[in-house]
Amino acid sequence: MAPTAFVAPQAVSTSTFKDDIFKGKVLFCTGGGSGICRGMTEAIMRHGASATIVGRKLDRLTQAAKELSEATGQKCIPCQADVRQSKTLQEAVAKTIETFGRIDFVICGAAGNFLAPISGLSENAFKTVMEIDTLGTFHTIKATIPHLRATKGAYIHVSAMLHYRATPYQAHVSAAKAAIDALSAVVAVEEGPHGVRSNVIAPGAISGTEGMDRLEGKGSQARDSFYPLGRWGAIDDCANAAVFLFSPAASYISGQILPVDGASEHLRTLVFPYPLAVLEPAKIQGMIKGKL
Ligand code: COA
Repeated sequence: MAPTAFVAPQAVSTSTFKDDIFKGKVLFCTGGGSGICRGMTEAIMRHGASATIVGRKLDRLTQAAKELSEATGQKCIPCQADVRQSKTLQEAVAKTIETFGRIDFVICGAAGNFLAPISGLSENAFKTVMEIDTLGTFHTIKATIPHLRATKGAYIHVSAMLHYRATPYQAHVSAAKAAIDALSAVVAVEEGPHGVRSNVIAPGAISGTEGMDRLEGKGSQARDSFYPLGRWGAIDDCANAAVFLFSPAASYISGQILPVDGASEHLRTLVFPYPLAVLEPAKIQGMIKGKL
């Protein structure tokens, strides 16, 4: 019998959940101006929620908030804040409460990334990513806990798959994301008795994101045959996972890490020719595309 041609199952942009499951709810999302967090915000708004999106670049946020409102028919406000500074986050939370009166869901998604070997990573470079990712998550949790207790709400932290095994040139991000996983777990057990849930979404390679542009080179195409499901992930895949984790269908799921990676981590292939990759990184620059 002739083998059947493999067709990669595609991401779906339609939801299997009812349109109004988040009616009257409010989402607070750091990093919501672009990429995965923007996609999650849109999906949650499509189910009835209003939203605040938080980031450093006001122009981009304002445009994104306008587009999100138009696409979903729900209200979205932009709040400029640097997650490294707790004061600006507290102001964003205050503006959200002033506008919407409550916060039900929080996505801690603001992050920074670049490729660099640890030997070439300056103290400030390491600290910058730790501060954006880990300290930023801590600040976001601290600023929103009272509001989530009031609504018996939920957190989603956006982590990654790269730190569950060792990924070269990602020491800074690996340390930061491991800490985020740990923070989420502690929040889940400490805040569980207050009715608050906390989970992590760990995206694998997701197309159309700044992260993948930085790691693989802008506009790069997936090498589909490297992936068990025959493709990179899509932003919609992460968005659907977020809708599920915030929905009542996940009411007994807390303290967990949900990989959205199409089983790629189980099939981690060696991308770099070792030890050349470590000893002479310039020679593999052409292979990894992202600037080293
Ligand atoms: N390799 C090594 N070091 C780097 C680097 C690279 N590619 N890019 C930045 N750094 C270092 C800088 O040299 C600096 O260290 P130094 O003072 O010792 O020279 C330090 O990181 C801070 O850089 P700076 O540009 O001043 O910080 P920033 O706050 O403006 O930017 C970054 C933060 C570096 C994380 C930046 O990449 C960013 O803003 N990213 C946000 C978007 C993003 O990464 N999205 C993807 C999410 S997965």
